[in-house]
Amino acid sequence: MLKDDVTLTDEQKQVRALAREFAERELRPHAEEWDRDQTFDRGVVQKLAELGFLGMLLPPEYDGLGADVLTYVVALEQIAWGDASVAITMSVHNSLPAQMILKYGAEEQKRRWLPTMARGAVLGAFALSEAGSGSDAAALQAHAVRDGSGWILRGQKMWVTNGASADLVVIMCRTDRPGERRGPRGIGAFLVPTDSPGYKVGKKEDKMGMRGSETVSVVLEDVRLGRDALLGEPDKGFVYAMQSLQGGRLGVAAQALGIAEAALEHAIRYAGERRQFGRPIKDFQGLGFKLADMATRVEAARGLVYRAARAWDCGAQDPRLTGMAKLYASETAMWVTTQAVQVFGGYGYMKDYPVERLFRDAKVTEIYEGTSEIQRLVILRTLYQETTTEP
Ligand code: CAA
Repeated sequence: MLKDDVTLTDEQKQVRALAREFAERELRPHAEEWDRDQTFDRGVVQKLAELGFLGMLLPPEYDGLGADVLTYVVALEQIAWGDASVAITMSVHNSLPAQMILKYGAEEQKRRWLPTMARGAVLGAFALSEAGSGSDAAALQAHAVRDGSGWILRGQKMWVTNGASADLVVIMCRTDRPGERRGPRGIGAFLVPTDSPGYKVGKKEDKMGMRGSETVSVVLEDVRLGRDALLGEPDKGFVYAMQSLQGGRLGVAAQALGIAEAALEHAIRYAGERRQFGRPIKDFQGLGFKLADMATRVEAARGLVYRAARAWDCGAQDPRLTGMAKLYASETAMWVTTQAVQVFGGYGYMKDYPVERLFRDAKVTEIYEGTSEIQRLVILRTLYQETTTEP
């Protein structure tokens, strides 16, 4: 049963309960099968849209729910509790393409894309990484050249979540000239409908975890786009991507929290059922202390993730706090799921029990949308800035 959280408003509690009920009914019963068969279920995406969860942060004028960031985070946490793969689909769609269009798009672009995204008719994706540019995102090579008033896009992208089923992908491409590379200041963000001639979905990755979410490579073979494909300024795409990744990272932090909470609950339940040496294993203090540590870390992670969301709601999109939330929540998810497998012992190592899947799902939260090392780098930079600017 969902525990009460007195720190949330009534509205936040309602959305949280709605997400939990949906996760229990529509996600948990299928999570094992989706993981085994690597099934991405577009029908579930439609159901998320019916709840308003695909336009959570969009204002009502674009058919969005107009929720605050904390409400979004608590919903995402519950969806991840049900199935982490569905949570990343929801997180990427809301935090990256939808927010990028809302923040940097022209009114015409907003009217064209946002209502359909909120209704789930258009699923969004985000393509930044390439084979040679992961953490060093500004080293990307895909490029856009002017074609009259429009653009032609060429190159390859990797690890695109939602990539095969998406209808619209925000793709970062170089707009600077080959002889005058400008690093992060020579990149544009383009709105690319996936039915554009030349947009080709490449390899579907066979992953360790999050197997119910699609991760694909994308090939851009002379994709011709009109002038309305460019988002904002032609050389600001990297900054837009970085700013939006802050929301993405908060989404991953909420997702990690949902995974950790699910693993903790499974471990507590199993510790009460499993008997060894004539008693339930929960009666051994060594194991009980492990559960206490797991619960404490989950609560600490939740405190940090909710604080980052509240700061955002108060107008402070603080990269340090978001980085800390993502770093701590993802490392907590990995630690808690590892302990949960240990509590289950030999059974935990088998696919028959969900902790094995949660353990695999947790790992990527330390990797995608900025590795733990990148989060530490972002945190460190702000620490140095603070100490050099303070008197
Ligand atoms: N908000 C706003 N602007 C930002 C910013 C932020 N959080 N971070 C950087 N910028 C701006 C800088 O101010 C700078 O702007 P100016 O040119 O105006 O000065 C510009 O962006 C360049 O910044 P840096 O000089 O810091 O760039 P850098 O090359 O040193 O890179 C980095 C910084 C933090 C290492 C960055 O490259 C990074 O975050 N790397 C990780 C990439 C990443 O997270 N990839 C995930 C891809 S998505 C994914 O995982 C798949 C999926 O679908 C889930």
